[in-house]
Order: sequence, then C-alpha cells, then structure tokens
Amino acid sequence: MRRTRPRLASNGMARKPIIVANWKMHPRARAEAKAMLTAIKKIAERSPGAAIIVAPPAIYLSELPRTSAGKKIHFAAQHARAGDTGAYTGEISMAQVKDAKARYVLVGHAERRAAGESDEDTRAQVASAISLGLTPIICVGERERSHRGEHLLFIRAQLRAAFTDVADTSVQKCIVAYEPIWAIGASEAMPARQMHEMAIFIRKTIHELRGERGQDLKVLYGGAVDESNARTMLDEGDVAGLLVGRAATNAEEFAALIRAITTKK
Ligand code: PGA
Repeated sequence: MRRTRPRLASNGMARKPIIVANWKMHPRARAEAKAMLTAIKKIAERSPGAAIIVAPPAIYLSELPRTSAGKKIHFAAQHARAGDTGAYTGEISMAQVKDAKARYVLVGHAERRAAGESDEDTRAQVASAISLGLTPIICVGERERSHRGEHLLFIRAQLRAAFTDVADTSVQKCIVAYEPIWAIGASEAMPARQMHEMAIFIRKTIHELRGERGQDLKVLYGGAVDESNARTMLDEGDVAGLLVGRAATNAEEFAALIRAITTKK
C-alpha cells in the first residue's frame, strides 16, 4: 500500500484523521438531531482513532455542544459572518459561534459560495475566526476541470483571497478542505491520486504565499466520501482528513465509514 505522507503530529505521534460531519440542512427536527448526536457519541467512544467534528445547522449549535461536554467530539458552524453583532437579519456571527462552544467554522463552502458568498467574504470570515481563536475550515474547489489546468489558477485565487489577512505565524490555525464542486453530491469521489497532486499544490501555494509553515497545512478532501472510498483517500490522497456530507447524515453509514478508517487492515 502506498502511503504518501505519514500523518504525524509535531510530537512525532501518528495524527488522527479529522472527520468533519457536515449535516447541511439536516435533520428536520431537534429530536432527530439529538438522536444523531447520541449515535455519533457512541461511534466516537468506540473509535478513538478518529477526530470527529460535527457541523450541525446553526439552530442546534448552542444546544448540542452543551450536551456533549467531556465527549470525544468537537463542533463546527457551517457558516458564520465575521464579527460580533450587527444589523444582519438571518446571520450568526463568529462571536456567537465561539460562545456556543464550537471550535471550528466552515468558511466558503461551495453551497454558500453558490448562494452569493464572495472571496472577500471568506477573507473577512477567516480573519475574524482566527482573531477569536476558532479554526476556520476553508473550503475551496473548482466547478469543472479542463485539460489546460485552469482549475489550478482558480484554486490559487481562492486560497490567496482566504489567506490575505492570515499572518505567516497563523497558517497552522487554518485547515483547508478541497471539495471539487463536481464531486459534491456526486456518485463517485475524486480519485485519491488526483487528490494527492492537489494536496501538494495547495501546500505549495500556501508555502509561496505565507512561508514554510504552509508545508504543514492540514488539507482535507470532501465530495462523495463514504465507507467505500474513505480509507483509500486517507491512505493515498495525502490528506489529514475528510469532509463528509451525505454519509454523515445517516448514523449507520457514518458508523460504517468510521469503522472503515479506524479498523486495522
Ligand atoms: P457530499 O458533500 O459528501 O454529500 O458529497 C460534501 C460536502 O458538501 O461537504
């Protein structure tokens, strides 16, 4: 088995893969959300080899982390606006996310960008998250690919914008999730070999923009991840973890995915 880059923490210990469960606009009701979380807590207890981050809809974000104190899972907001407070009907702020005891926030998910979020918005959100001690999970990804490789320029521009206000010494406070739009919700994930190339490109880009700490940037893959491909992506895709949509909204499928990546071969 080709293992491209051992996931090692700075103390030399093997690093747990980060698995982000992006619930998107699921489930329909609070009782179902609580049941999902109970199932995920059990999964996390059985599988200490994975670092699980749950990103529920904002309406559940203040309650779920409180019922999970001491459990082995963390929380992310799916989106937040830069800053503390303001006249922004329907929005939640980074400060409110922090207050809800989430540690992470997705920034620039493709579905947010499709609804009008700009590179300038991601820049402001990343800066605000870092200033509050939240870890931004910066989502980048192209709509389509051509053989001329223009998608690389597109990804570079998204990264450049998102990292504009990130100090060279704060690069490690960020995570980048590469999610090609053509793979989100698709029937197949991107091949791990292509992800390996993209992970190198992303780290090289941040190295150029922000110095050598870019080489240690954590890069995740997202787009049609499930139990059948998660292990290969982690082993061969040169990634620190996975951003999971559909397969994270069903407790059995999610348990199977976590089993697939934590069970010894
Ligand atoms: P998917 O979604 O796993 O359903 O493809 C991933 C995402 O949008 O984060």
